[in-house]
Amino acid sequence: MSKVTYYRRKPLPLEMHKVCIVQKTNIIPVEERVKAIRKAGFNTYRMESKDIYLDMLTDSGVNAMTNEQLGAMMIGDDCYAGSQTYYRLADKIKEVFNKDYFLPVHQGRACEYMLALAYVKPKPGSIVPMNFQFGTSVGKIQYCGGDYVICIKEEGLNRQSSDLFKGDFDLEKLERILKEQGDNVAFVRIESGTNLIGGQPISLDNMLATAALCKKYGVRSVLDASLLQDNLHFIKTREDKYKNSSIREIVRLISDAMDVIYFSARKLGFGRGGAIILNNIEEFEYIKTFVASFEGFPTFGGMSVKEMEAIRVGLDDTLDEDIIAQGPMFIEYFAQELEAAGIPIVTPPGGLGLHIDAMKFVPHIKRSDLPAGSLAAAIYIASGARGMERGGIDEPWANPEVEPYGAMELVRLAVPRRVYTVSQINYMVDRLTWLYDNRDLIGGIHFETEGPHQFYDALESNSDWPEKLAAKFREDFGESL
Ligand code: F0G
Repeated sequence: MSKVTYYRRKPLPLEMHKVCIVQKTNIIPVEERVKAIRKAGFNTYRMESKDIYLDMLTDSGVNAMTNEQLGAMMIGDDCYAGSQTYYRLADKIKEVFNKDYFLPVHQGRACEYMLALAYVKPKPGSIVPMNFQFGTSVGKIQYCGGDYVICIKEEGLNRQSSDLFKGDFDLEKLERILKEQGDNVAFVRIESGTNLIGGQPISLDNMLATAALCKKYGVRSVLDASLLQDNLHFIKTREDKYKNSSIREIVRLISDAMDVIYFSARKLGFGRGGAIILNNIEEFEYIKTFVASFEGFPTFGGMSVKEMEAIRVGLDDTLDEDIIAQGPMFIEYFAQELEAAGIPIVTPPGGLGLHIDAMKFVPHIKRSDLPAGSLAAAIYIASGARGMERGGIDEPWANPEVEPYGAMELVRLAVPRRVYTVSQINYMVDRLTWLYDNRDLIGGIHFETEGPHQFYDALESNSDWPEKLAAKFREDFGESL
């Protein structure tokens, strides 16, 4: 994509695919949108897709597949044990990651459970240093009797920054932990495309240095490659040293340095499912026992063979620079347009989605009134698009003011790969610009009951602000949807 320049017009991110199959979508009137978000308890997780125009909740399992992926699904070898599909996918994994052993599981969090059972449970009280936490992985670690330690470099928590690799480890902190607690470390988790700080990449040099520290102290390195695709694009385009390396070469440099790699194939590989890959046969045999008990027979492990065939083809696409550039370039374009309108976002833009800085968008909403959740509801009312709250609802901090990792209040508008068009992004820019101009009308929300709360619980608005916002929309947009 970056190879194409324009004659006169302002460059737009250019798709290197054409659309073969489409799904109709629908915008309901603003008054109906207010009713829908009320019915969903002001929580976008609780909405029905029929009420949503652009579903920007997540990229997970909703990236568009290629015709070749759909075709490959038809040759899935459906048998309980010894499926040829398993061997075909294992060969592809060996070709891409150069690791001998592969276990399929039903999705990313199942990888995390299997790894926590294998590495954390036998060492009660052990710790897992990681660049940043992710709910599904730390949940399994804690469930298996361990805990996590965050080692992100300080700049990673700076929401507006010019640092191109905010997902990097603070290597000094990591080394201190490994030196002092080496025996008590179950593994080091390296998350590519660091999700919760805004899909921010980790540099290849930092990944290699982290893996080298693990080797020095005899600790296992485990890469969460769920968001590797975007991270590969950022290494190629932001890390000068590797600008002439192919994506395949970059993947090999990463995978040769890591002991274990796992990923959610709902993100990496454009399919659904998950994979654990490693070279150590004893560990493979041990983890296999958990896969057989909790997931399924180890040649399918909870995945459908159709999805496994699709991932095999999707992994080839993951090595294609043009294809993996699409998501990050759309997000970058989205970010530039919003910044031009003065809208506060997380910078530099990362992968997965566009992240709006709610504490700056609605500074009049106190943290206890859940600014990111309120803004996510307001965005739905203004546009019919569903984003995801990444703040005090998703992560109920006891006291956000003293929260050690900077308690972010973000709204994520995911840009699933190959799904939306530039005109739909432009529509979002327009609606967000209107909302920003009318931000004073946005009010807070609250849980109706005492905690503890789940991120999918219902909430209520603190006043009739949603109706007032919709009335202003009518005034400004007339009959428009
Ligand atoms: N690791 C990372 C970095 C993730 O982003 C996710 C999922 C997982 C692991 C778990 O994978 O969903 O297949 O079980 N992230 C999704 C999201 C849910 O919307 O960000 P899973």
